[in-house]
Amino acid sequence: MATVAVVGTQWGDEGKGKITDLLASRADIIVRYQGGNNAGHTVKIGDELFKLHLIPSGIFYSGKLSVIGNGVVVDPGVLIQEMEALASKGVDLSGLRVSDRAHVIMPYHVLLDKLEEEARGTKRIGTVAKGIGPAYTDKIARRGIRIADLVDEEAFRERLDAVLPHKNKEIERLYGGTPFSKADIVEEYLGYGRRIKPYVVDCSSLLNDAIDRGKHILFEGAQGTLLDVDHGTYPYVTSSWPTAGGAAAGTGVGPTRIGRVVGVAKAYTTRVGQGPFPTEIDGPLQDELREKGMEYGTTSGRARRCGWFDAVGVRYAARVNGLWGLAVMHLDTLSGFPTVRICTGYKLGDKVLTSPPSTIKALEACVPVYEELEGWPEGTCKVERYEDLPGAARRYLARISELIGVPIAIVSVGRERSETIVIKEPFEGSPS
Ligand code: IMO
Ligand code: MG
Repeated sequence: MATVAVVGTQWGDEGKGKITDLLASRADIIVRYQGGNNAGHTVKIGDELFKLHLIPSGIFYSGKLSVIGNGVVVDPGVLIQEMEALASKGVDLSGLRVSDRAHVIMPYHVLLDKLEEEARGTKRIGTVAKGIGPAYTDKIARRGIRIADLVDEEAFRERLDAVLPHKNKEIERLYGGTPFSKADIVEEYLGYGRRIKPYVVDCSSLLNDAIDRGKHILFEGAQGTLLDVDHGTYPYVTSSWPTAGGAAAGTGVGPTRIGRVVGVAKAYTTRVGQGPFPTEIDGPLQDELREKGMEYGTTSGRARRCGWFDAVGVRYAARVNGLWGLAVMHLDTLSGFPTVRICTGYKLGDKVLTSPPSTIKALEACVPVYEELEGWPEGTCKVERYEDLPGAARRYLARISELIGVPIAIVSVGRERSETIVIKEPFEGSPS
């Protein structure tokens, strides 16, 4: 038995999809533990490019279970659309499972996401407007509706009676929006409930029983450490816990049963949405990096902000997640830059910080301290062994590892599934 969690170490979009897809081949069960359809994973299989928002990337392997954990917020309409899109391309959905305790994104959550953003004006977060924040707000406020309610007509009507008047008041009185009719929601959502019911399980029982039977479990995080509601650049964060601790709460598996944590980092940094970004590049070099890395959002299509590798941020991620190893993605994108930079500290006034400060004001005032390293002109896509990477690329990776204090376990050297060098196998000899 072995269990591995994959977490983002930056602001999301690190390439977690490729790593979970790779590690899914070694696992029996793949489980998403937080977030919702704000996530976007692109998985390339042969010539087909698949864009997943909600369903774990394990779905491409038959004979494995792909579980949506209790910590995820599920937009049932989106889930069904995604199921249909996969099915139409011949992907087998019989391994899909959805936790009975996952919360449901309701239509008023999607509307409130937009209304709240508008109300924030210049202080907007730049959410993906899918209702994620408002759904988690209701979960914590104990006004949520769960999958178990959605698939039980009586429970669903009862919950809606209890919460809809409040939500409608919020929409009308705070934002001047149009209230929702109970009848419309009931009709639409009970239909969704019937479609989803065959896949509903008690996630915690399923996973713990599997662990008892020696199965391998992969915990799939969405977003990244710097978007974590506790550990990220608050308030410019998402409303869930992408960090490794979220894997326990979001699935009902105790932290002692999560063996290893693999952090995923791009060889540089990107961010979508608003908020501080110390190593963001000024000028045309940013555009060059964006074009080479095809840095446009999977979910929103928005151009990603691009910058140099931030060792302060990733070292912090190593700490809050207890990383066992690092997967460095998009190394190929950096080929051809004469020099590459790594941020080793944040200069704030006359001090150099080695860990991010807790306020946005301080973070915005931080000036990155850079180390400049020699670049490598060679492409890396065809390289199969770490030793065969260009010397300058190896020195870059070694320096990152040294600064983070975590060994490099995996390097992605190209877009293809096969263009990946595994140095340390996360599932091999995993302690739990
Ligand atoms: P994956 O899983 C990158 C960002 C949004 C916004 C903030 C809050 O692909 O790495 P939300 O809609 O979650 O309330 O928005 O978080 N964000 C992401 N950025 N990748 C993601 O997911 C993201 N999910 C949310 O842009 O700044
Ligand atoms: Mg994304």
